[in-house]
Amino acid sequence: MIALVTGGARGIGKAIAQKLKADGLKIIIWDIVDEGSDIAKAIDALFMKVDIASFKDVTSAAKSTGDIDILINNAGINRDKLLLRMQEEDWDNVLNINLKGVFNCTRAFLPGMIKKKWGRIVNISSIIGIIGNRGQSNYAASKAGIIGFTKSIAKEVGIRNITCNTIAPGYIETEMTGQLTEEVKKAYIESIPLKRPGTPGEVADLVSFLISEKANYITGQTIHLDGGMVM
Ligand code: NAI
Repeated sequence: MIALVTGGARGIGKAIAQKLKADGLKIIIWDIVDEGSDIAKAIDALFMKVDIASFKDVTSAAKSTGDIDILINNAGINRDKLLLRMQEEDWDNVLNINLKGVFNCTRAFLPGMIKKKWGRIVNISSIIGIIGNRGQSNYAASKAGIIGFTKSIAKEVGIRNITCNTIAPGYIETEMTGQLTEEVKKAYIESIPLKRPGTPGEVADLVSFLISEKANYITGQTIHLDGGMVM
């Protein structure tokens, strides 16, 4: 079985690639940064430099990749600004990578899953897509969009034995959240009942469950992985 992880060069995507490799899957990593090739080497995976925001690049890369069984739409960025300071490119970059990227990759690999009458898609959203956040209107809109997309795909392809679920992580310690000020990190931790950030490995464990046979009857869901931050 082949699993493709977008944004697998670091952070949550890297942990997912490592976990799914340990589960016995063949791994393909798509990312735009070169570190992806080192990670891929370490776990005997295939690395391809692909910008998921480009429909054209994704379509041609998917042709050379061939069919896959499992797609993990993980790559994402943030460009946080209050709306009145937000530029058109801040909006477009975030929406193009976080939401259109999920469309591009799912569109490219779904036909192969339909042919096999089996497939697993896991999309990485965020609790910000559920509760919103000051300074993150672009990010929140993209992550909320993923949730609606997931439910629609689950309805479209359930009959083909393909499940599609969303994980909504809370505050996970990665390079993305490394940019937060100590004050913001402290405030997040205070709002988390478990009183700590989550780890990329904890997200990877949930992905591993959702693609396993134990989760055969779960589709269209948004599962919070946030230490109880949003309930
Ligand atoms: P990260 O910034 O550490 O890693 C993201 C990866 O995506 C990087 O390797 C980056 O090069 C890649 N990427 C960015 N643009 C790309 C593009 N156009 N094409 C292909 N790859 C691209 O981020 P992190 O923290 O690992 O986040 C992973 C996902 O989890 C993101 O979708 C993020 O929004 C989501 N998330 C993260 C949370 C956190 O607390 N870290 C919380 C909730 C959601």
